Amino acid sequence: MKNSPQTIQLLWKGQCFDFPLVQGSEGETAIDIKTLRQRTGLITLDQGYANTGSCTSSITFMDGERGILRYRGIPIQELARGASFKETAFLLIYGTLPTPGELVRFSEQLTDYSPVHENMRLFFQNFPPNAHPMGILSSMVNSLRSFYPELANADEEIQVTVPRLLSKIRTLAAMSYRISMGYQVVYPRPDLSYCANFLHMMFDSTVKPYELKEEVVQALRTIWILHADHEQNCSTSAVRLVGSARVNLYAAISSGITALWGPLHGGANQAVIDMLEGIRNNGGNVDTFVKRAKDRTDPFRLMGFGHRVYKTYDPRARIMKGVCHRLLQALDREDPLLDIAQELEKTALSDDYFISRNLYPNIDFYTGIAFRAMGIPTNMFPVMFAIGRLPGWIAQWLESIKDPHWKLNRPRQIYVGPGKTMYRPPTKGLDMEQYS
Ligand code: CMC
Repeated sequence: MKNSPQTIQLLWKGQCFDFPLVQGSEGETAIDIKTLRQRTGLITLDQGYANTGSCTSSITFMDGERGILRYRGIPIQELARGASFKETAFLLIYGTLPTPGELVRFSEQLTDYSPVHENMRLFFQNFPPNAHPMGILSSMVNSLRSFYPELANADEEIQVTVPRLLSKIRTLAAMSYRISMGYQVVYPRPDLSYCANFLHMMFDSTVKPYELKEEVVQALRTIWILHADHEQNCSTSAVRLVGSARVNLYAAISSGITALWGPLHGGANQAVIDMLEGIRNNGGNVDTFVKRAKDRTDPFRLMGFGHRVYKTYDPRARIMKGVCHRLLQALDREDPLLDIAQELEKTALSDDYFISRNLYPNIDFYTGIAFRAMGIPTNMFPVMFAIGRLPGWIAQWLESIKDPHWKLNRPRQIYVGPGKTMYRPPTKGLDMEQYS
């Protein structure tokens, strides 16, 4: 970040205050208002933080107007084409692509840490049968601290905890699915890649061994790379905000998982399938749903459409659409929901409501269809997103705890409630003793 020679002037109560401008490496510019309240008594009000930079970061660059997404400077298209998920995770977390030696060491760590403590199974078994896997995953990740207590040496703690969590999240996610289905838990295999190992733990069984198809493994690799980071989105901000209180990594990530669960964020992939099924069950009439989405009195929205930052086609959605087609082709499978999705996309993209608001399909519009083809149950879709996003959350948490300008995150507010009001005891005549 560099300071710009220009400043912004604020005129307030007859006085002029200068505020510095700062510039990022891609030219984006911000007003540095650190001293605003101290000098003027004012604060800024920015509901939803749409114009607020909460930090400086060198992890991910996004340009929503031009549809650009890069991890540590590398375009997402390049990583999706050639990198492994493990390399991408390493890149995000440690800042550079791994050397061959580093990749071997990292892979060994992921293998060593993949089993989970046997006692954690007891935890799992006590969740009620219909518990949502996101709730289970968030609780299990938080409980890792109880099973793996903090190491005395802070550097060693990070060196161990980061690969441990990256590895165990796959095992925990697959276990949450199998236990919720009443199936026996399948243990990780050291000879398999990160993505293949997850599929093995999800689907292998002694009754019917799971055939690991390369096309499925590759599709999952791409999906997880596309999800790996997305700068200061809702769940990442949750990780940073909760982490700013200096909680441990597991607790910070658990809060990220909880935020991701929401249908406006990572839960959108599940919501897209629910919506497409709804359209199919209503006779497949796309126009009715588009009409509803445009009606301001109807809370219905087209799930998988729109984005806070992208005001053009989400570059991840473009890649995802191709992945989806190739996967269905390779598995020789047809999905009527894909046809509905395509028709919906076409209708919305030629409708003035969506055009004028820059509403394009986002990544979640197509991931659900790919997950269905892989045999992933619908309620596991947000969990799939969470596994993919974990390297980004970890990278952002690490960056925040090492930031020399670190501060406890504590926004302010504009109070709009009642003025000073005196306490009045409840009306006489009622016997309040039992309530006191
Ligand atoms: N369907 C219909 N109208 C929409 C939609 C939609 N999906 N998204 C936004 N709009 C309208 C909205 O009603 C508003 O209209 P008006 O100007 O008339 O009031 C306008 O577009 C701007 O919307 P907004 O809510 O102010 O925009 P936002 O930046 O706060 O919302 C969003 C972003 C993602 C929450 C929203 O687009 C949405 O709810 N989309 C559906 C859920 C979804 O697909 N979420 C996944 C996001 S991508 C995954 C991730 O990275 O988390």
